[in-house]
Amino acid sequence: MKPRLLVARAIFPEVLERLAQHFELITNQDDESWTAAQLLQRLQGAWGIFTMAGERIDAALLAACPALKICANMAVGYNNFDLDAMTAAGVLATNTPDVLTETTADFGFALLMATARRITEGERLLRRGEWTKWRYDMLAGADIHASTLGILGMGRIGQGIARRGALGFGMQVIYHNRSRLDAETEGQCRARYVSKAELLRDADHLVLVLPYSASSHHAIAAAELAQMKPSATLVNIARGGIVDDAALAAALRAGQLAGAGLDVFEGEPAVHPDLLTLPNVVLTPHIASASRPTRLAMANLAADNLIAFHTQGRALTPLNRV
Ligand code: GLV
Repeated sequence: MKPRLLVARAIFPEVLERLAQHFELITNQDDESWTAAQLLQRLQGAWGIFTMAGERIDAALLAACPALKICANMAVGYNNFDLDAMTAAGVLATNTPDVLTETTADFGFALLMATARRITEGERLLRRGEWTKWRYDMLAGADIHASTLGILGMGRIGQGIARRGALGFGMQVIYHNRSRLDAETEGQCRARYVSKAELLRDADHLVLVLPYSASSHHAIAAAELAQMKPSATLVNIARGGIVDDAALAAALRAGQLAGAGLDVFEGEPAVHPDLLTLPNVVLTPHIASASRPTRLAMANLAADNLIAFHTQGRALTPLNRV
């Protein structure tokens, strides 16, 4: 008998077909938003769940789902998982690292450039019919080439952004991370390790790529924003909650910062109303990994983890040991 797998969100039909060869599927191709109670109800008797980083897997859910053996996230971030609770319950957790690194780094750079060079602000002005003549200072932004790129969180995606900045745009790259990279990796990224205070003080463009956890909650709040250059831009492609969005809106309004590019938000898909009213913010709906080939690769890796765990007893990219 095939084990039961809950695929909690809509997913590529071809990936669903692969999964159907191994599992009895409960699907959600209409992509309905389930409450926690509805999720729990559908998970009854399930061996595994395919999640998309929005489904919270915690001790209470695990206690109510004793048959559950694996949760496969189609995301590199896994702050929706209580990993300790999962390990204690003997439930394997997996994510999708590597396959999205370059696509996400591309997007971080796109957001940086759009923000610094005021691209969406210019497009809105043009669409409103307000472009009536050329003016010497119209939408004059900040340079990217030869400026200082700061990166907070120097994992694989941070390193990809560093390489783009250093090798493609001749930027000086500085970074801060929980632990310093080895000398060889620093050399490949042409990146210099600095304290968080130096990073905030010296970056012309600061990109956030650190994982969300209790310790990174509001890592960038009013006190940190006050240390940045008034000409600086801030880019968040990591997770909502790392930036205090209300404090960011206030800092932007007060001219403490030139602009922000945001792909993730506290309480998304809701966006802080003040951010929506500011012209110098580029807003995108959590799409940093959203190229078609990369999203398909992420879905296939999540599926591979489920299939490998079922057929061989071990996953390709596990987050815990059970
Ligand atoms: C997307 O946000 C991811 O973590 O993969």
